[in-house]
Amino acid sequence: MPLIELRGVWKIYDSGSMRVVALRDVDIDVEEGEFVAVVGPSGSGKSTLLHIIGGLDRPTRGIVRVAGIEVSSLRSDTELCKYRNELVGFVFQMFYLIPRLTALENVELPLIARGLDPRERRTKALEALRLVGLEHRAHHRPAEMSGGEQQRVAIARAIVTEPKLILADEPTGNLDSANARAVMDLFEKLNKALGVTILLATHNLELLSYCDRAIRLVDGKVAGIYDRERYDELIALSSKRLREHDST
Ligand SMILES: Nc1ncnc2c1ncn2[C@@H]1O[C@H](COP(=O)(O)OP(=O)(O)O)[C@@H](O)[C@H]1O
Ligand SMILES: [Mg+2]
Repeated sequence: MPLIELRGVWKIYDSGSMRVVALRDVDIDVEEGEFVAVVGPSGSGKSTLLHIIGGLDRPTRGIVRVAGIEVSSLRSDTELCKYRNELVGFVFQMFYLIPRLTALENVELPLIARGLDPRERRTKALEALRLVGLEHRAHHRPAEMSGGEQQRVAIARAIVTEPKLILADEPTGNLDSANARAVMDLFEKLNKALGVTILLATHNLELLSYCDRAIRLVDGKVAGIYDRERYDELIALSSKRLREHDST
């Protein structure tokens, strides 16, 4: 059984006068332990897809199943929170750390929802910070850290609950190339050493080298699924599209 299974998933944003089809009839399978890229131009539905898989948003139609849980039929916020807290870690382009809390306190946050006692929380949060190489920054606040360090704290916060799945939405979008590489190396380590399944939304095709395969979205539709052997094809497609864009 795949870890992630989407069947006939649609997402339509309808605000009366404006109707946007963000996902159209999407079928996707991701196996446990895979590192999969979601690529496609801006506005193609990458973030929407991740939000729906992570239970941050619901599909208009269709079925989303993760680890045997039918996420698309979870109704209450309590059920959705429980699903997210137990199975999913999110990493976003903006790090969303709480400025007045230290790195350690930020990483502890998801464990408060689990009702762990403070000592246990601290131990687990320190362990997560060690995994991202930032134990020595535990008592620093976000403003005292570089962007790359802040993103690694956000990753520690995502993994402190030992999720099966990490959903990363343009996680290197605000980082220079050295920090971007550090973040991607870390994802690779989590994937290879701990077997965490990773779904990475990005428009940066240089990151493909880290991924087992890529799902390409265009206008909310799955326009192709590419394995390593076909990355060249995917890169050629995107640069062709950019050239066409330039000439219009
Ligand atoms: N909350 C929303 N309300 C209305 N339209 C939205 C909303 N979120 C996203 N969209 C639209 O859905 C489409 C897909 O957006 P998104 O998933 O953010 O794409 P991507 O992450 O690939 O750039 C876009 O046309 C976007 O404008
Ligand atoms: Mg996006």
